[in-house]
Amino acid sequence: MKPLIEMRNISKEFHNSQETIYALKPTNFVAYEGELVGIVGPSGSGKSTFLTILGGLQTPTTGEVIINGEPFSSLDEKLRSKIRLKKIGFILQTSNLIPFLKVKEQMFLYNRINHSKVENDWLRELFTKLGISKLSDKYPSELSGGERQRVAIVKALYHRPNVIFADEPTASLDTKHAFEVIELLKRETKEQKKATIMVTHDERLTEFCDRVYQMIDGTITQIR
Ligand SMILES: Nc1ncnc2c1ncn2[C@@H]1O[C@H](COP(=O)(O)OP(=O)(O)OP(=O)(O)O)[C@@H](O)[C@H]1O
Ligand SMILES: [Mg+2]
Repeated sequence: MKPLIEMRNISKEFHNSQETIYALKPTNFVAYEGELVGIVGPSGSGKSTFLTILGGLQTPTTGEVIINGEPFSSLDEKLRSKIRLKKIGFILQTSNLIPFLKVKEQMFLYNRINHSKVENDWLRELFTKLGISKLSDKYPSELSGGERQRVAIVKALYHRPNVIFADEPTASLDTKHAFEVIELLKRETKEQKKATIMVTHDERLTEFCDRVYQMIDGTITQIR
């Protein structure tokens, strides 16, 4: 198996006037093609920090993130966002939907930026899978929390990223939709040889993962 994304000696500190928070202790991590990796751990333990540094949304204090064997975290922001747009899909705790765009326009934005064609069949398949076909002309503010989350998932998968980061992707979904999401993520990961890294509190979902890590106080340990 080929390593798709790697963390080498990454750490992250936050400084405020009184103290230093060691959000991530020195960490090494590799995700391979076709792998669905789960991350569990208590609130405040560093899971989102881990995910956002891997995906280049935050810069680490030390160390390097490598994607497809190439340095990623040390690139300047412009280059990093270019790679992010092409190779990475984010399903974040905070919604990544743009308030003034309709649901379908959220997806088309990618094509506009990239000067590429809208992939209608693929979009229809994703909308159907996640049960949101009827929502394409609505604005994010007109959706329920779970609907918003499902739209955010379509948005993260639409551009066929190599690496998918999901932070509690099923947090506001009922059991039926939670399983649909995890099955879709798993199938995409296996068929398209992606790597998916998912933070979750839901033990039913870790069942679907190839490997599971636990984060405690900024230290990550493989538990399965
Ligand atoms: N921008 C920031 N500035 C200062 N401290 C931060 C910042 N972001 C995170 N932290 C701190 O770093 C630690 C790890 O935060 P992180 O968001 O990674 O936790 P988490 O495991 O994702 O928690 P949750 O399950 O609640 O989402 C926490 O103590 C948090 O308060
Ligand atoms: Mg978090």
